[in-house]
Amino acid sequence: MEDLKGKMKELSAEEKADLDQARITADEETVGTKKLFIESYGCAMNFADSEVVTSILRDEGYSTTSKEYEASLILLNTCSIRDNAEQKVRKRLALINARNKGRKGVKVGVLGCMAERLKTQLLEEEKIVDMVVGPDAYRDLPNLIKEVEGGQKAVNVFLSREETYADITPVRLGSNGVTAFVSIMRGCDNMCSFCVVPYTRGRERSRSASTIVAEAQDLFDKGYREVTLLGQNVDSYKWKNEAGEIETNFAQLLALVADINPLLRVRFSTSHPKDITDEVLHTIKKYENVCNYIHLPAQSGSNRILELMNRTYTREWYINRIDKIREILGEDCGISHDMIAGFCTETEEDHQETLSLMDYVKYDYGYMYYYSERPGTPAAKKFEDDVTLEIKKKRLDDIIQKQRGHALERNNLSIGTIKKVLIEGVSKRSDDFLQGRTDDNKMVIIPKDKHKKGDYVQVKITECTSATLKGIALAEELA
Ligand code: SAM
Ligand code: SF4
Ligand code: F3S
Repeated sequence: MEDLKGKMKELSAEEKADLDQARITADEETVGTKKLFIESYGCAMNFADSEVVTSILRDEGYSTTSKEYEASLILLNTCSIRDNAEQKVRKRLALINARNKGRKGVKVGVLGCMAERLKTQLLEEEKIVDMVVGPDAYRDLPNLIKEVEGGQKAVNVFLSREETYADITPVRLGSNGVTAFVSIMRGCDNMCSFCVVPYTRGRERSRSASTIVAEAQDLFDKGYREVTLLGQNVDSYKWKNEAGEIETNFAQLLALVADINPLLRVRFSTSHPKDITDEVLHTIKKYENVCNYIHLPAQSGSNRILELMNRTYTREWYINRIDKIREILGEDCGISHDMIAGFCTETEEDHQETLSLMDYVKYDYGYMYYYSERPGTPAAKKFEDDVTLEIKKKRLDDIIQKQRGHALERNNLSIGTIKKVLIEGVSKRSDDFLQGRTDDNKMVIIPKDKHKKGDYVQVKITECTSATLKGIALAEELA
């Protein structure tokens, strides 16, 4: 996400609302004869899914490439969360089709949330792809590819109640070798009125705790030093035994992963304000290696809007959760948010309540968007998208400006303190510097010196911007 933070300064309000960045597969030593190019959009769960897809296709003899023109199979793993996310994929598809027109045997497929939302439309009506595969159908890819190679169009958008890809070891894509995502659940049962995810990802289901711990252990053994446990609502993670009793809840899962080794940092995303428990907060406090950072999307500070959004909590409930975080984990705990500007019927007064909630919390970081109506969602069916684009953009800009001020204020508090930083690699701006993260998820830049990625370094923070901290490493080396 550091890229996004860096880019916030130069982007227009519209671009800021569309911060999804594509990730593409890297060049790989040939393990197979066929070349696969996957470009992934949207959230971390989609990026993690592309690693599952690569694993499945590696067994079919595919190795990855970063060059679309080298690939015989081009897959776009897509996002439907906002209209501009879909438009971006459409533009890419048009370009890919134009560029690969004369190339024999090249097949193009759409995976992920757009595949699920549009189903056969891209195949049959628009005729712009060969294959459409929803997020729960990736095991079927080898069969679907055979169909396509046989000259047919192929589609599988079946949503499962059980699939978690628990037994598949993802092939890490674009990895820094230090941090990795681990999916702990799929789908969402929450039905926030604005959101397409329950329709594109299906019902919520949890992955077995033992396979999650085994994957994290394997990553640690391979040198990784941080895992982020992923789910749309991690607090409702539950793994049940055969009698249907809850064997592992999310707090217990956190503890199991943290117990692998004190040198393995554990992060998680996303927490839902209605579900985050004190038990989770106490687990974060108990384990030094469970990071002191919580992403707690608010979406709005107005009770009227929260109700229309069907978020199932009030402003007061949300503030109570923030107070609990501060009480149990202290002022140092990093907190970030998601906020939507200009939801249906939002008034200036509602917007001011969002800004005042931000003033109360003083978030370290935020992901901020203006409302984009999604076809088929409860909001699209029941409410009019009646806030003008001009007002949406203006309110989004107010939210972004406020967030920038708070981020700077929070980052300033770090100056003069000593932070334990996990080095992730060379700084994007200069080879003479390294970048890493603090426990509370702040990006830190330090002179390279003798340090290397995967090291934990004690850093004295000397300067900051709203996006980054800068510091100097202290002589004392950490394990
Ligand atoms: N499950 C997480 C949660 O409940 O907070 C986040 C899921 S969603 C992938 C990420 C964010 O996209 C949401 O928190 C919301 O702020 C934003 N989002 C979702 N639907 C949107 C829409 N229709 N228009 C604008 N932003 C939207
Ligand atoms: Fe969407 Fe709400 Fe589920 Fe998050 S919790 S994925 S916003 S429906
Ligand atoms: Fe987008 Fe699907 Fe993620 S809609 S944000 S890729 S769950």
